[in-house]
Amino acid sequence: MKIGIASDHAGYEFKARIVQWLKEKGLDIKDYGTDSLVSVDYPDYAHALAGAVEKGEVDCGIALCGTGNGMAITLNKHQGIRAGLAWNSEIARLVKAHNNANIIVLPARFISYTMAQHIINTWITTPFDGGRHLRRIGKIPVK
Ligand code: RB5
Repeated sequence: MKIGIASDHAGYEFKARIVQWLKEKGLDIKDYGTDSLVSVDYPDYAHALAGAVEKGEVDCGIALCGTGNGMAITLNKHQGIRAGLAWNSEIARLVKAHNNANIIVLPARFISYTMAQHIINTWITTPFDGGRHLRRIGKIPVK
């Protein structure tokens, strides 16, 4: 499984640690920036990650900004994306089991790094429940 990751400046420090941690776990990670603490605009990085998931360049993604909302709002403009904001492990489990989120979004300024690791672990290892949830996510795209 290949995982894309992107953040703005507010998520940069967590992103750098997450990239190193996931690589150490043997996962294949592609980093779509940003590359420093210099202030940037989160949509530039959200669109890059969303496009990569839609094109199949990566299988899924992790996005971070201060609240997570700028990233989530932008990512979910893409038809092929289901981006879910998670701030604890139970929400991370449900956003995969019920919503099959292909991008997990983290509010970097409002959670600890340890919580970010729990959220990512849970989202990666939880399977999609399917069934009624498959019917529901099938109704999400605007026709
Ligand atoms: C950056 O200051 C902040 O606005 C951004 O990271 C994010 O929280 C926006 O939704």
